[in-house]
Amino acid sequence: MSIVELKNVEKRFGPLTVLHDVSLDIQPGEIVSVLGRSGSGKSTMLRCINGLEAIQSGSVVVDGITVNDPKTDLRKLRQQVGMVFQSYNLFPHLTVGQNITLAPKLVLGLPKDELRTLAEEALRRVGLEDKLDHLPRQLSGGQQQRVAIARSLAMKPKVMLFDEVTSALDPELTGEVLKVLEDVAAAGMTMILVTHEIGFAKRFGTRVVFMHKGKLWEDGPAKAVLSDPKTPELSSFLSAVLH
Ligand SMILES: Nc1ncnc2c1ncn2[C@@H]1O[C@H](COP(=O)(O)OP(=O)(O)O)[C@@H](O)[C@H]1O
Ligand SMILES: [Mg+2]
Repeated sequence: MSIVELKNVEKRFGPLTVLHDVSLDIQPGEIVSVLGRSGSGKSTMLRCINGLEAIQSGSVVVDGITVNDPKTDLRKLRQQVGMVFQSYNLFPHLTVGQNITLAPKLVLGLPKDELRTLAEEALRRVGLEDKLDHLPRQLSGGQQQRVAIARSLAMKPKVMLFDEVTSALDPELTGEVLKVLEDVAAAGMTMILVTHEIGFAKRFGTRVVFMHKGKLWEDGPAKAVLSDPKTPELSSFLSAVLH
């Protein structure tokens, strides 16, 4: 069964159609890299998947839950779908551990000792087990982004969405975040990531989707799509990104 299924999705902002007839079917364990120029609709598509944006027609189903059904409890849905953004948005006055346990405490109502174990486990997965009691400002940008990933992992989502999570980082900090993404992928997580890291998409993505003007322009196995673009739009995008 698909874990994420978009069928003929149309998304408009007023008169502007941002997603045109987008259909995408993702199986558990797939690592889908989403590429495309700025403004092509990548972030909007991710936001539709976790119900942050309403759609005008079509359907979005995640793990059997119809996201665009008005009866759907979006809070429940978002427990299944983690999302990490470019700006990691940690609370500056809370420790790393408190940042990670905030949602599990509020949403899952876990007791204190379980929360601590949860935070420790999540931090171990991103290689920051020694930072539990640090404040975000005591960490580098790369480490803060890894905490944001740990925070998302702590909710034990079934799918994780990553929107340009390395774009705000200095190049020397990108590698440590990509390494964490690789580890999360290796653990079997279904991941959809908007990225400009073509090399990463080729090595780790099982699949690449290229968006252009709100449409899924190309979609296929990562290596095939990236080595042999079928459209001039993808060719020119790749040469612009790689040069
Ligand atoms: N809340 C919004 N209101 C109006 N237009 C929006 C909104 N969010 C995004 N857009 C527009 O939708 C288009 C796609 O944006 P976005 O999904 O952010 O693209 P990408 O992530 O590929 O850069 C752009 O033209 C953008 O200006
Ligand atoms: Mg975007």
